[in-house]
Amino acid sequence: MSEFYFMDGKFVEAEKAMIPVRTHAFLYGTAVFEGIRAYWNDEEKQLYVFRAKEHYERFLRSAKIMYMESPYTVEEYCDITKKLMAKNNYKQDAYMRPTLYKSAQKVGPGLYDNEDSFVLISNKMGDYIDTSKGLRVCVSSWRRNSDNAIPPRAKVAGSYANAALIKTDAHNAGFDDAVVLDEAGQVTEGSAMNLFLVQNGKLVTTMKTDNILVGVTRNTIMEIAKDLGIETEERAIDRTELYISDEAFYCGTGAQISPITSIDTRPLGNGQVGPISKELQKLYFDVVKGKIEKYKHWCMPVY
Ligand SMILES: Cc1ncc(COP(=O)(O)O)c(C=O)c1O
Repeated sequence: MSEFYFMDGKFVEAEKAMIPVRTHAFLYGTAVFEGIRAYWNDEEKQLYVFRAKEHYERFLRSAKIMYMESPYTVEEYCDITKKLMAKNNYKQDAYMRPTLYKSAQKVGPGLYDNEDSFVLISNKMGDYIDTSKGLRVCVSSWRRNSDNAIPPRAKVAGSYANAALIKTDAHNAGFDDAVVLDEAGQVTEGSAMNLFLVQNGKLVTTMKTDNILVGVTRNTIMEIAKDLGIETEERAIDRTELYISDEAFYCGTGAQISPITSIDTRPLGNGQVGPISKELQKLYFDVVKGKIEKYKHWCMPVY
């Protein structure tokens, strides 16, 4: 059976969802998007979309920065998402990518006189990164784009050329991913995920103003860590702190919680996945599947 996508206000068969080659977003990367996951809860026979509301709120903030007019409200986006998931009849974990894009058939970078179109695609999906083993990462020689160049706060398709270079060079050098510094040499995040360090039993992560995409998962982790009695310090992070932290992990919708066991070939702690990363990962997987009553409001049921 063919999968469906939602495009230009209707559900269409995936193979028929096409954009013309002169589309502005294709020529200039002028699209904003989100990555959202849905988790299958086998006991309840229910599919839960995780924090859809928060993702669409960020989607609208990205759109605003890029002079885009959203055709829908957050509630309408959530409703469309639910309907698409149900139409595709997913009974396993899935991934959704809503995209709002500049759709004029126009050469020239201007965002004016340039209409906006919306498409939501989805697919079945498991782990994007193997979350069970520790990652070996390096510090990238590339720098993250800054707020005054291509703002990392907005999830803009074109800015992922930066992530692509970071990820590819890390991969080609034999690493799983990289930590990215900004132009001032301070830590930002991973190629396409946020970063947490563990120091003396506390979490440390960069501030919202440190040239990062302010992650929904980052926020989730700070909330659930509080429940475990673990505090989070949000502050600027130096490169050398990476090497002397007890533990580190990436987090994001795609990465979920991915523990890091070495940075620039220096092992963290004893070189194994650390206890706080493990504990948070276990709780996170219960939270996203709607198994923890306190956080069930983050999980939107599809069926
Ligand atoms: C650059 C970047 N940082 C951080 C994240 C994590 O954001 P979220 O937790 O909202 O998925 C992502 C996306 O997953 C990303 O692309």
